[in-house]
Amino acid sequence: KKSITIAIDGPAAAGKSTVAKIVAKRLSCIYIDTGAMYRALTWKALKNSVNVNEEGDLVTLMQDTNIKLEQSDGGQLVFVDGQDVTEAIRSNEVTNNVSYVAQHPEIRKEMVRRQQLLAKHRGVVMDGRDIGTHVLPEADVKIFLIASVEERAKRRYEENIRKGIHANLEELKKDIEQRDEIDSKREASPLLKAKDAIEIDTTSLSIQEVADKILQVANNHQ
Ligand code: C5P
Repeated sequence: KKSITIAIDGPAAAGKSTVAKIVAKRLSCIYIDTGAMYRALTWKALKNSVNVNEEGDLVTLMQDTNIKLEQSDGGQLVFVDGQDVTEAIRSNEVTNNVSYVAQHPEIRKEMVRRQQLLAKHRGVVMDGRDIGTHVLPEADVKIFLIASVEERAKRRYEENIRKGIHANLEELKKDIEQRDEIDSKREASPLLKAKDAIEIDTTSLSIQEVADKILQVANNHQ
């Protein structure tokens, strides 16, 4: 039997990937960070001076782009045309442009197709914005993670400081709010809680507490 599929959605910096990695490891599933695919294309668009608002140009670029996600101990490595861009796709420049790339229906259609292929014959924990609603509408478990924008900005700030990246709390808060706004208001599969998703507010929970809650839901399912 194909093992469990878990969809984790929610706004920016809600802790989805951190928690998804822990849950995937515990359940021996693969972890797929779909945001990394949109980030990878955005990275390449910026590098090639392709306008992130020009859907046609982006589609042409995408058709000529090989995006590979590879499982590693620490989570997931991302390659664009064979080049390791795991770190590069986390830059502020990519972060602040990715939502424009992800707005285009033709881009989403192809990304969703690739994501569904990745999940086809195996157990997965997949995180993103439209996993429960569009990518894996039949997922066994759907989780919608939320947290206050203050808390999310604070977590991102501390993460950046830890990594030695420049960070400004107010700027981070503004960037997160803007990204959520674009992701929620776009026409093509916007950020939305699936009807059958379980919402978890992580504002006052630890990473382990959130992971445990999801594992509990997953266990009840099996
Ligand atoms: O998850 P992450 O913050 O890395 O996602 C980056 C961006 O990619 C999101 O802000 C959103 O614009 C886009 N995205 C999406 N659908 C997904 C995953 C990410 O539109 N399933």
